[in-house]
Amino acid sequence: MNDRFLRACRREPVDKTPVWFMRQAGRYMPEYRALREKHSLLELVRTPELAAQVTLQPIRALPLDAAILFSDLLVPLAPLGIPFDFQKGEGPVIEKPIRSAADVAALRRFEPRDELRAGLETIRLLRRELRVPLIGFAGAPFTLASYAIEGGGSRHFAKTKDLMYRDPATWHRLAGLLADVVADYLRAQVEAGAQALQLFDSWVGALDEADYRELVQPHVRRIFDALADLDVPLIHFGTGTGHLLAAQRDAGGSVIGVDWRTPLDEARRRVGDGVALQGNLDPTLLFAPRERLLARVDDVLRRADGLPGHVFNLGHGILPETPVEAVRAVTEHVHARTDTGRKLQ
Ligand code: CP3
Repeated sequence: MNDRFLRACRREPVDKTPVWFMRQAGRYMPEYRALREKHSLLELVRTPELAAQVTLQPIRALPLDAAILFSDLLVPLAPLGIPFDFQKGEGPVIEKPIRSAADVAALRRFEPRDELRAGLETIRLLRRELRVPLIGFAGAPFTLASYAIEGGGSRHFAKTKDLMYRDPATWHRLAGLLADVVADYLRAQVEAGAQALQLFDSWVGALDEADYRELVQPHVRRIFDALADLDVPLIHFGTGTGHLLAAQRDAGGSVIGVDWRTPLDEARRRVGDGVALQGNLDPTLLFAPRERLLARVDDVLRRADGLPGHVFNLGHGILPETPVEAVRAVTEHVHARTDTGRKLQ
């Protein structure tokens, strides 16, 4: 079992810096595109044998140190009462966006062991195959609510902020319900065999720190508090969050995910020594000439140097057109550059 990812999360010594990539399974891989010709995204996610196969595609092709469950952030919305679909070239579309107190009152907490059993069964299948740790995940309340309220992806989150500012009580009811559902689902993922969890608050960087602390942080903290008894690393990730890093650390998580806009040494100054860091190469550098790409990887490693606990990753997910060979080159380069020659039992 290769456990350097779990060791780095716990800020223990490692033989080499561990590497995994957000969206490491997906359209940049020919194996994935071949399966997608036969199945929709939601078919892949809802069929445990297929979801397990997709999760394993990058693990078989590349020397990665962790696997991430193949699923989607939005999966818990449907059993809550917010059906959605993925439309070709457009991303997710929510059939009936949540806009009012009555819309929120109609939502229901549910049992993830029943309603989300496909993902949990996928985890059980994967644990029989994998020789690297398996990461489970879910979306954080702001990021999930933004899809539910906007009806899909958004640039300015104007409708989400409108609900927050106009009717904070309804916002808190929605965010609190999402926090409960996400905590239940993440706990069930660990029971099924997930060895680490990542909470994606991908879009929370759209808020200033005061709004974050008032309207979002209590709900995120509730999730981390609810999981505190689980003996697994908890990764807390967002993008555009340089100004929120200390507030995110206060909300919880043993590993803080940092995007490429904040250098890791600066991120370390903002969060202190009590957590590990994950990141943070700009995903678009994977399209750059090899020399520039690897020089920037070296810069990430240099800024992480001597820190207790670094998990190498991108600052956000791999883009669909990314060359597989660039992903391989980065993985091999991080391993070679950080190899201590140390053998850990
Ligand atoms: O990281 C992984 O490899 C695990 C799988 C994973 C997917 N989505 C698969 C996926 C994870 C962790 C996610 C998270 C996710 N999904 C987020 C948060 C992460 C982030 O990007 O910050 C969000 C916001 C979503 C919602 C979502 N899913 C959108 C907006 C889209 C459409 C945009 C796009 O890239 O096409 C998806 C589709 C999606 N989820 C794909 C994959 C591999 C593309 C699949 C396809 O069309 O075949």
